[in-house]
Amino acid sequence: MTEFLWGGATASYQCEGGWKEGGRAESMWDRYLHDHGLENGDVASDHFHRYQEDIRMMKEGGHNSYRFSIAWPRIIKNLEGDINPEGIAFYNQIIDTCLEYGITPFVTIFHWDLPQYLEEIGGWLNRRTCEAYTHFAKICFDAFSDRVKHWTTFNEPRYYTFSGYLIGNYPPGHQNLSETVTSAYYMMLASAMAVREFRQGKYKGQIGIVHSFAPVYGVDNTVRTKIAMRYADNFFNNWILDTAAFGEIPGDLLGELSKVCDLSIMLPEDLEIIRKYTVDFLGLNYYARVMIKPYETGETTLIVNNAGSKAKGTSQTIIKGWFEQVRPESSRYTEWDTEIFPEGLYEGIRSVWKKYHLPVYITENGIGLYEDASEEQIKDQERINFMDMHINAVLNAREEGCDVRGYYAWSPFDLYSWKNGTEKRYGLVAIDYENGLARKPKESYYWFRDVIQSQGKTINRKKYEEVL
Ligand code: NOJ
Repeated sequence: MTEFLWGGATASYQCEGGWKEGGRAESMWDRYLHDHGLENGDVASDHFHRYQEDIRMMKEGGHNSYRFSIAWPRIIKNLEGDINPEGIAFYNQIIDTCLEYGITPFVTIFHWDLPQYLEEIGGWLNRRTCEAYTHFAKICFDAFSDRVKHWTTFNEPRYYTFSGYLIGNYPPGHQNLSETVTSAYYMMLASAMAVREFRQGKYKGQIGIVHSFAPVYGVDNTVRTKIAMRYADNFFNNWILDTAAFGEIPGDLLGELSKVCDLSIMLPEDLEIIRKYTVDFLGLNYYARVMIKPYETGETTLIVNNAGSKAKGTSQTIIKGWFEQVRPESSRYTEWDTEIFPEGLYEGIRSVWKKYHLPVYITENGIGLYEDASEEQIKDQERINFMDMHINAVLNAREEGCDVRGYYAWSPFDLYSWKNGTEKRYGLVAIDYENGLARKPKESYYWFRDVIQSQGKTINRKKYEEVL
């Protein structure tokens, strides 16, 4: 049996900093955050300069894998597709450092930092971006696949497209349904095109996709609720997982979308690529489930809490005619309105395994907290409790025969949390941004090390009832 992968996950823009160094081009996030005068990732955790220390701490914390992404603007300089050798050299160093420490690199090709030169021609609304992405992916395979055997095409296409084109809280900051559908489609097409490149190039290893997984629960067992659950599952999950794993965009979803959008960009030859080039495994980022009820009233509304305790309880999702999200009152929530519901991870893994029968990695799981990094020892018992319950869920699913192959904490060290800035902390290691970016292991760091060393035996084991 393959070794279970235990580690932490990061994203290039969120941790690297060094935004003008190493020949890096501008990304859409640089431009957007600078133009809006918002907290940005210019320095972030300064992983660009301190990756050796960070990876050493992963090793000392027991990790045997590191999930990170490759910054497209570091690798490809311009629209013409010219390669930046300094960018290749940087990731060679990251990969080689991992290997020196016996850490398996698990690479995300795209984690949201689109080069600005592509955003200027329409970004994911322009088919040319699919070609440019495939070129970038091929350069990565050529440069790194002698050492990297675990690849994922995209991180969370749903979150990216919904935030950028439907909710409008992430760049490019639009609110437009047909743009949402176009960008979603081009990302899934580009994912299949990269898989085609990977297969045709006969690179060794496996390639998957990472999804922001939200298992759907209904308020009751009525037929109306079941129908609403299907809408919600298409909205939250199926357009990514079915498309990547089965090679097919759900037909009923296309039927609904065709009533409100022009789907003529979906060419038969594209659908053939999507059908043929499916993934080897699924990466699931799990933070919470969604509980829904049938649609009752109101316009489509999507509100995400990017302000933490200042806006607690304001999150809302209504999709007109489809469903409404409800907030189970008996549940516990983080300051950013994320429900804490480990059973959802257990049920979710079981349902994904049953439906797709592909290996699963939990590519992200963690909790965002307010913490004071100037403290001598950060006591993050809440994070320990959270991870303990979720790893228990993973182990339960595994023991029942689901092929789960890894668990990645988001995140191995504190980093820049997009619109939530650096005050929302996820790390096992604190970064004291006020004091020279000093690294300080939190209590969860040592706790996770013991979990890994015992192969999960130190986890508080508890069985869950079957619900879904
Ligand atoms: C989802 C994303 O992959 C990552 O970029 C984000 O910061 C975390 N989860 C936490 O929300």
